[in-house]
Amino acid sequence: MTEKYPDSLKGSKSLLAKYLTPEMFEELKDKKTSNGFTLSDAINSGVQNPDSGIGVYAGDEESYEVFAPLFDKIIEDYHGFTKNDKHISNLNPNDLDALNPDSNGEYILSTRIRVGRNVADIPLGTAILKDQRQKIEKDVSKVLISFSGSLAGKYYPLNNMSEADSQSLIAEHFLFKAGDRFLEAAGLNKDWPNARGIFHNDDKTFLVWINEEDELRIISMQAGGDIKEVFTRLTTAIAEIQKSVKFAYDEHLGFITSCPTNLGTALRASVHIKLPKLGENMDEFKSIADKHNVQIRGIHGEHSDSEGGVYDISNKRRLGVSEVECVQDMYDGVVALIKREKELSL
Ligand code: ADP
Ligand code: ARG
Repeated sequence: MTEKYPDSLKGSKSLLAKYLTPEMFEELKDKKTSNGFTLSDAINSGVQNPDSGIGVYAGDEESYEVFAPLFDKIIEDYHGFTKNDKHISNLNPNDLDALNPDSNGEYILSTRIRVGRNVADIPLGTAILKDQRQKIEKDVSKVLISFSGSLAGKYYPLNNMSEADSQSLIAEHFLFKAGDRFLEAAGLNKDWPNARGIFHNDDKTFLVWINEEDELRIISMQAGGDIKEVFTRLTTAIAEIQKSVKFAYDEHLGFITSCPTNLGTALRASVHIKLPKLGENMDEFKSIADKHNVQIRGIHGEHSDSEGGVYDISNKRRLGVSEVECVQDMYDGVVALIKREKELSL
């Protein structure tokens, strides 16, 4: 147990550093959840990586109560969501008003929507035991390989995959990368690569990551900008998986995830989109993105850079807004960005 307020937080701009005062540290430092998850476990990623944006991870649902003074502040800052707010889920694609924002295919290369899910009544990946992790892999992959029709596919365990295959899946944006330092310090890479893997259908339009940052990441993706088709496939897949797997869900916090940025819907809807002109005007690009609650990432996932003027644009809010609203945020942001890119190209 860390006895002393961590020095590395002193110059850090993370939300952890912003809200963990020395007084709060004293108040929380000896607390633990029934799975034995401590404050030092929760903050280690941000302590080891002072360049974190957030810096904390939960070990289980209880972490959000036991360490509430810290988590509540971070949740409020990131999502604008407070104790009195209510989270409501809406996975009905008919409620989504999002025609392809780029019907001529000039800007959007691909669309992807993912949700994070964790299995109810066991710890999150940060505090999970090896046999629990293995059981998830076994149970979930069994469910997935039983799917038929357009969701039918195969499960590829990481510990049985050649380096060349994993590298090409990563380069094509289908598979998670190994060795993320934020996940490493959060304890999420323990016993890697065992019990990790990816399920996908033949077209690689429906994919499930097993035991990465969350126990499940359910993904729908395809080339082009048909957001509604991608969302419809995702919601169908979630409903199918949910028939056999019970997910951790809380009335207030929605779907429980290891990182507080993913709570609520745990949904990130993104496009890979060509915006070279805006890319030369980053201040304006960021201000349009902020106004529309969208985030700008590079094209090889979080903490990567843009290449050739292509960016990953996605919804920022996930809690206190429904899944339909998350996708709508991304859609509205993309429409505004395309409009400005066109003006800058005249
Ligand atoms: P997450 O989606 O789980 O938040 P990342 O930002 O690390 O995590 O992205 C995971 C992978 O998904 C990366 O390979 C990234 O390039 C890919 N990806 C994200 N959005 C899209 C998209 N719209 N089209 C194609 N690939 C995408
Ligand atoms: N822990 C990392 C940070 O604080 C990532 C936070 C958000 N992203 C995520 N994949 N959970 O910068």
